[in-house]
Amino acid sequence: MNLKNIRIVKAEKKHVRQMAGLVSENLGTCNLVSGQEDILTRNISELTEALDCYQAAVDENDRVIGLCGIGNPKIGNDYGLDIGMHRDVLYVVIDKAYQKKGIGTALLQSCLKNSKDYPVLYEAWGEIKNGDVNSYKMLAKCSFKMLKDLGTSFYKDHGYCAYCVDKDKNCRACFCKIYIFTPVR
Ligand SMILES: CC(C)(COP(=O)(O)OP(=O)(O)OC[C@H]1O[C@@H](n2cnc3c(N)ncnc32)[C@H](O)[C@@H]1OP(=O)(O)O)[C@@H](O)C(=O)NCCC(=O)NCCS
Repeated sequence: MNLKNIRIVKAEKKHVRQMAGLVSENLGTCNLVSGQEDILTRNISELTEALDCYQAAVDENDRVIGLCGIGNPKIGNDYGLDIGMHRDVLYVVIDKAYQKKGIGTALLQSCLKNSKDYPVLYEAWGEIKNGDVNSYKMLAKCSFKMLKDLGTSFYKDHGYCAYCVDKDKNCRACFCKIYIFTPVR
């Protein structure tokens, strides 16, 4: 694997199918709000709608091996936070074969460069068995600070777990922590 050939580019229509494949494979089904469509189809339409917000990491054959998106400015949030205008990190996902090589950090830093107007929130997901959220080191490297620990009830209370592959409505295996990046003006 030659990391020198990995480039970060603005995501285009031709990348969407592979981006959706990475999200479907690496993030499971907990975040589904509709049981009607299959996961891949739903992710394709979600990514297509917000394509302008995304950057992709591609290899020498223009194959997508990672993606990151930061959404447009908004005011409300699901986390009970009164922080005014802010943006959300939409997805950060790296192909399993390329994880832990600095690509997630590089993609997130690249997207942050284009989002210097408002604070950026990151809804970090973790499984209790892993101890902390998967992304805690990447977030530290990108100067995010933990803002609120929503514990193990957040996903259940927001109805996500009903769509989890385990279909276990009482599951408290996953937890959520909200991180914030505050741009220097
Ligand atoms: C989390 C994720 C986006 C990080 O991207 P990445 O390219 O692997 O991250 P980086 O290589 O830039 O990692 C930065 C640091 O985090 C560490 N790290 C990466 N994935 C990790 C994980 N799952 N658990 C613990 N640490 C992890 C890396 O080892 C590195 O630490 P180091 O510098 O001490 O070696 C990627 O692993 C991924 O796509 N995971 C599956 C999807 C996911 O969990 N997305 C986040 C949902 S909130």
